[in-house]
Amino acid sequence: MNIIKSLKPHRASTISAVSISALFAATVAFAQTDLPVIQVQADKVTAKMPPTFYGLMTEEINFAYEGGLYAELIRNRTFKSDSLPQPIKPDVYDPAKYYPAQFATNIAPRFWNSIGGAALMLDTNAPLNDALNVSLKVDAAEASKTSPAGVANGGYWGIPVQPKMTYKVSFFAKAAPGFTGPLTASLESADGKTVFASAKISGVTGEWKKFEATLKTKSVEPSKDNVFKLTTTEPGTIWLQQVSLFPPTFKNRPNGDRADISQLLTDAQPKFLRFPGGNYVEGNNFNERFNWKQMVGPVAQRPGHKSCWGYWSTDGFGLPEFLGWCQDIGMEPVLAVFAGYTLNRDHLTNGPALEPYVQEALEEIEYVTGDASTKWGAQRIKDGYPNPFPLRYVEIGNEDFFDRSGSYDGRFAQFYDAIKAKYPQLKIISTVGYEQPENLRVHSRMPDLVDEHYYRSEEEMEAQSFVYDTRDRSNPTKIFVGEWATRVGSPTPSMAGALGDAAWMCGMERNADIVLMHCYAPLFVNVSQVNGTNRSMQWASDLIGYDALNSYGSPAYYAQKLFSLHQGDEVLATKADNLPTYQWVQTGRRGGGQARTNEVKSVFYSATRDTKSGKIIVKIVNRADTAQDVKIDIAGVKSVAAKGTATVLKAAKRTETNTLKEPQRIVPVTEKLKDLGTSFTRSYPPCSITILELSAK
Ligand code: AHR
Repeated sequence: MNIIKSLKPHRASTISAVSISALFAATVAFAQTDLPVIQVQADKVTAKMPPTFYGLMTEEINFAYEGGLYAELIRNRTFKSDSLPQPIKPDVYDPAKYYPAQFATNIAPRFWNSIGGAALMLDTNAPLNDALNVSLKVDAAEASKTSPAGVANGGYWGIPVQPKMTYKVSFFAKAAPGFTGPLTASLESADGKTVFASAKISGVTGEWKKFEATLKTKSVEPSKDNVFKLTTTEPGTIWLQQVSLFPPTFKNRPNGDRADISQLLTDAQPKFLRFPGGNYVEGNNFNERFNWKQMVGPVAQRPGHKSCWGYWSTDGFGLPEFLGWCQDIGMEPVLAVFAGYTLNRDHLTNGPALEPYVQEALEEIEYVTGDASTKWGAQRIKDGYPNPFPLRYVEIGNEDFFDRSGSYDGRFAQFYDAIKAKYPQLKIISTVGYEQPENLRVHSRMPDLVDEHYYRSEEEMEAQSFVYDTRDRSNPTKIFVGEWATRVGSPTPSMAGALGDAAWMCGMERNADIVLMHCYAPLFVNVSQVNGTNRSMQWASDLIGYDALNSYGSPAYYAQKLFSLHQGDEVLATKADNLPTYQWVQTGRRGGGQARTNEVKSVFYSATRDTKSGKIIVKIVNRADTAQDVKIDIAGVKSVAAKGTATVLKAAKRTETNTLKEPQRIVPVTEKLKDLGTSFTRSYPPCSITILELSAK
């Protein structure tokens, strides 16, 4: 506890003989003589905190689902990672048609290895079905009792093995005449010295059949340098498809999610999920968009697609799985629909050619919200979700400010009109926010919300954290900050990132009358191999990191969680005086151009009330490398109790961070306070985010 009762003059730090190179070192402490004061006007509510204020944004990037949240442990389980690129231009592409993947022949599939001299080959002549139109031919002619032959898979940078756990194996197989089996499924260490569990599977015939088995481990040490093997001791030829291995999943959902990552999300209590992108909804080409109709129904009927982030997606984590995720964590879906524009800048203009995609979007909404009497509602029920989902927001595309053809206004209007006609209650989000130039925005319709994206340095986030304070209040269109992050630290943000984030979140909270929702991006990163070819990371600074075995929250995750858990439901009027500042020398783009010196505040704040408990919640961010005294005055209440709490997230240095090895290095700590009142001064530690909870009457 550190309450200072008397007002102390603040020691001024002076800048002398600052060299040009030091100036370019980005920040310089600045002189400050008067004590900063934050005044909270507790009887003046400036906004009701929107119930869906804090959410998550997600897409398949950085091995977010496959190799991440989706609990499947086998990499390239459908052998389609080697499919050949097949970009199709929109004018010749038929959205209702299925274009089967094509393959080079005579190659072994990626991420699978031969055991005991078996010859592995992709085979398009023995497909399981139209969707999974290739299989793995395993020629195990040399298999014998002393030298089993078959295949091994190393998963997503390892297969995790946990003690006393039951893993579910499943696969489709058939064999050439003469093969009598059986097959052995096993979990083994990569060096082959330890077999953790194995099961025998017999009955493989000349027809495709699905086989299932369980693998139970004993009291072993958790490890990830392991492989999954399917082998035989009998010579023969076998074909395999959809080879799958699942650990127990979060809430035991079949085809479900990793428990540890799901728990991190649950703990942060997000209220909505913006999915499926991001770039992922668009795809590089029209035939690589998020084609949701190919991502529903049994997973063995889903063809998969090449995602825009450079790797194959089996789409085992498809539309129903996004909804299951929402259900398990208690989030409301915010659905982004494909809007006729792709990342390679192919687009359709509004009119008849766009209409099939508008219908796709309407049907997708029906899938999410329809009842059993509707075609797509019935499909969702068949997929395991009897209850319609409470959809309120639909976003038309993603980042359509990149479309310089000018087609977005017309495309948006066509989707807007069709959706509003069928679902008048839905709020429609434009992907061009007010941070974008006027000429790129939608003008022909009034979007209910616009989606603004901010990926910035710590200094920029802090400098811009007051932008919403001066936004026009007469505009009926509200703001959805659908992607934002302070991009400092890789693969996950350092404390500097969390400080920039917290400053930015204070700004959004103060302005919750116009900022209705926001979500950090990207959410996930597999940190197993962040560089090189076949890397696990496509985008640095992600909220949550993991490998095959463990996961952790970055300091930015804990900042997010702190704000989410201490949201309150009323925003209180605040005013600040004498806030200290630092100088940020902003170089021109790419290091060129004119350098500009900005005076940026180094203390940030917001205040809310939780009407249920009556508590006033004051958030104070001190981004400086030194402690900072700040006086808080609470007006508009009779009294503030002497006792309260401060929950603090801090680091000795802004470069400090959490990692797989040190997942809890920077976590919030709660301390009890006494000597509080309607006016008190407290010293805020260097590089800190503080949540004060005050009991007021
Ligand atoms: O979050 C990563 C990417 O950033 C998103 O896919 C895209 O919308 C944005 O450009």
